[in-house]
Amino acid sequence: MSLDDAVARSAERIVASGRRPRIAVLLGSGWQPFVDRVRSPSRLPYAQLPAFPVLGVAGHAGELILGQVGAHDVVVLAGRKHTYESGDASVMKGVIATLTACGVTTLVQTNAAGSLDAAVRPGELMLISDHLNIVQRSPLIGETGNQRFVDLRDAYDPALRIQARATAERAGVTLHEGVYAWILGPQFETPAEIRMLQRLGAQAVGMSTVPETILARRHGLRVLALSMITNMGCGLEDEALSHSHTLAVAQAAQASAVPLLEAIVGELEG
Ligand code: HPA
Repeated sequence: MSLDDAVARSAERIVASGRRPRIAVLLGSGWQPFVDRVRSPSRLPYAQLPAFPVLGVAGHAGELILGQVGAHDVVVLAGRKHTYESGDASVMKGVIATLTACGVTTLVQTNAAGSLDAAVRPGELMLISDHLNIVQRSPLIGETGNQRFVDLRDAYDPALRIQARATAERAGVTLHEGVYAWILGPQFETPAEIRMLQRLGAQAVGMSTVPETILARRHGLRVLALSMITNMGCGLEDEALSHSHTLAVAQAAQASAVPLLEAIVGELEG
């Protein structure tokens, strides 16, 4: 099946639910409990959506949930496929194309990240203001036509960031803001790499999000992205890094992060 056919069939399945969400929320590591905040949920496993990848990482269910958050119809994507799994940066291409075909106009992304800034602590949240594509891979390789030359100025929508900051302030939750550096992984960085990223102007580092932002901008979607800080970058403090450590810190941070995400999504305005 061609990707176009897979996208058309996936979109048909979603539209058949009778819902027309304009906001999609992509849940990364640590954010899965957000699915319980979706009211009147109906679920579609990724396996029933031919444009969607099959997932493999612990903590990622691979399920799409349609329902309501605040006043909005939303589609929540529980789980993403990472470039480090296959080396393919376009692995989420069919997902973002399907969302676009369904009428989604805003993509809210979440992830777990390491902090490069002493003032941004584990358990805290950071709004992504811009990114560094350290990997220098693109999900748009192979596309033809002028639409592939995507302008990434204001890729993380300034108006949506203002709204998110206002919601966090009302909720009394600290929300940092900074540049996210995408590294391929799956290994964590070396201390020398962390120092390099600091010098390049990044405040956080992680293994996801950037390909999806590029795809979303390619389709004209507005993007808002939130990092849950699970650790200080390697070598900044005396702590050993592991995926289970990431998930354990994320679990502790969920009590404030998940309600904040619910409020941010619920209060988003066009
Ligand atoms: N580096 C890369 N990805 C991450 C980290 C990190 O320190 N923490 C959580 N995801």
